[in-house]
Formats: sequence, C-alpha cells, structure tokens
Amino acid sequence: MIETKILDGNDEKSLVTASSLLTSGEVVAFPTETVYGLGANALNGAAVKKIFVAKGRPQDNPLIVHVSSTEMVEEIAEEITENARKLMEKFWPGPLTVILAKKKSLPDEVTAGLTSVAIRLPSNKIALNLISLCGFPLAAPSANLSARPSPTEARHVFCDLKGKIPLIVDGGKCDVGLESTVVDCRFSEVFVLRPGKISREEISALVPLGEKTFDDGEAPRSPGMKYRHYSPRGKVILLSESEIEDFARQFMEKNGEQGEKTAILALDEVLSAVTNPNGPKKISLGKTCEDAAARLFAALRLCDEDDTEKIIVQKFNKTGIGEALMNRLEKAAGEK
Ligand code: TXA
Ligand code: MG
Repeated sequence: MIETKILDGNDEKSLVTASSLLTSGEVVAFPTETVYGLGANALNGAAVKKIFVAKGRPQDNPLIVHVSSTEMVEEIAEEITENARKLMEKFWPGPLTVILAKKKSLPDEVTAGLTSVAIRLPSNKIALNLISLCGFPLAAPSANLSARPSPTEARHVFCDLKGKIPLIVDGGKCDVGLESTVVDCRFSEVFVLRPGKISREEISALVPLGEKTFDDGEAPRSPGMKYRHYSPRGKVILLSESEIEDFARQFMEKNGEQGEKTAILALDEVLSAVTNPNGPKKISLGKTCEDAAARLFAALRLCDEDDTEKIIVQKFNKTGIGEALMNRLEKAAGEK
C-alpha cells in the first residue's frame, strides 16, 4: 500500500509535483472537463502498464492519449486525415477523441497492440497545464476501478484507487461529467465509436458520417465498449416519465417494496410529480440533460454509499447529449 495524496490542481506547486512523478514513470490522477483520468507518460511502456494494474483494466482495452498541442499529435499519429483536421479545428480543445493510424514508436501498451491510437486535447486548464509541464503526452483512461462509474470528483478517485496511486490532482467537479465522444477518423467516413457531449448531429455537420456505429452488434471496434461499465452495486432500472409516476404510486401501496432500499434519479420536473413523503429517495439530476450528464456518475456513486438496492433512472431522448446519457445508462442497467 502506498499513501495517496490529494493536492489542489489550481496551485502551480501541485502540478510540479505531479509532473515530476509522471516524468519518473509514476501514475497520477488528474481532472479533465469530462471525467478524471489516470495518467502516465504515453511514451514509456512500463509506466503505462502501471495504469492497467491500478485500475484492474483488461490488457486488450487501449487508452486515450492526451496532448496539449497539435504538434504533440504529430509525434504519435502517422497521419492527420482531412476529416480529423476538420473535427480537431472545430472541437479542440474539448471532449472529442479522434482515432488515427499510430506511429510505430508509440508503445504497444498504450494501444493494446492496435495499429491505431485514440487522441484527445482536453479543454480543462489543469489538464492542459500538466501536460505542457510534462512535455510528453499522457495516456489516461478514466480514473475509476474497472467497471465502476467514472469519477467526476477527486474523492471518487480516492474511493476507488487509494493505496494504489501516489497522487490525485484535485480540480473540483468535472463540467461535462460523461466521457468524450470517440470518433474513428481513419477513413473517408467518420464512425462514432462512443457517444459523448459532442453529438452525432454536430459531427455530421462537418464530415461524412459512416452508418456502422458502436452498437451495430458486430465485434466492437472500440474494444472498451464490450466490457461491463458504469455499474453501481444496486440494480439500475430505466423508466419513462409516466412509468416513474406509476412506480412511485405502487411503491407506496406496496409499503416500500418490502423495505427494499430504492432511489429515483431524475430531472427536477419529473421528481416534482413524485409527492409521496414516504416514497423512494429522490435524487435530482438537475434541470437539463447537460445537468444530468454532469451529475449522473456522482448520483450512481451516492446510491452505492447508501447501499441502495434498486436505482430507478429516468429515460432520456437519444438526441444530442441524450444519446450519450442513454448509452451509459443502458450499460449501467446491463441492457447492452
Ligand atoms: O473523456 C474521456 O475520454 C476520458 C478522459 C480521462 O479523457 N477518458 C476515457 O478513457 O474515458 P477510457 O479508457 O475510460 O475510454 C477509452 C475508450 C475505450 O472505450 C477504448 O476502448 C477506446 O476509447 N479506445 C482507445 N483507443 C482506441 C483505439 N485505438 N481504437 C478504438 N477504440 C479505442
Ligand atoms: Mg473508462
């Protein structure tokens, strides 16, 4: 067991400490605008291996490489395609990850032996400052234990990885709250492998979009999508707005489901229709889909802390960020 420190990312000294650990081949957790990442020097295969050990991550699941400039992209990608260039210009810095052909020099540990590499330039200032200070790109998956909800606060990382990593850089709550949109940019058509805040609609306004997607039932092209994900310990059940009202009414009639600890996660508007004071616990996901994205993983973790057995979550329309929300929720519910 090693001691896990938490340092304030707004303090320059913390970033100096973090970058010297990373330079010496250690792993460090840091904030991004999407979720917290567990970083290591992407050019050091032995350092990258430590990420897989700390997370308990399957070896065949490749990592995203975080850069602080487009020059860094040229060090790790063989070629920046026209489609990638357009998307990078529009959405970087930000929550979009592009897949390109990898340079041979990039260690196989990062890409799990694939010939492609996933690259992202985050907009979070602490992340950007840390990568610049390091001077090398950071390979970083989400900083949770494998299969647990991604961390959107430093304390979530601490809960999962204490004793396993030397340092967590604290940058407060993540703005977006869901992982980046992953797009394969190697071909004439772009494929969305994982939905995120940057929506299919926004991407197709710039580049031709391929029809095959992450959920077309074929062998997953984004290897991580095949694993169980985002799972709290309680059972997640997705219900429509009207089903939630019915559920809450029946819950009262059945006198609290024979004592099964239950919570409802929904937007305020939906929760306001659930008026029974002895009913299930209500956890607000805010007012908008963007609020819900930012709060979802923390809410799922809250349910775990309370030993909630049944977690009812509102269904969202699968447009805009709603597609990403439903993708994570369906995985948490074990539906896919
Ligand atoms: O927002 C994010 O993307 C966060 C923050 C930390 O940047 N990172 C993140 O990493 O979500 P991770 O490892 O949890 O998810 C990376 C996803 C996985 O589904 C992985 O399989 C996929 O990207 N991926 C990585 N490299 C790939 C590649 N070369 N080809 C296809 N999919 C790839
Ligand atoms: Mg992850």
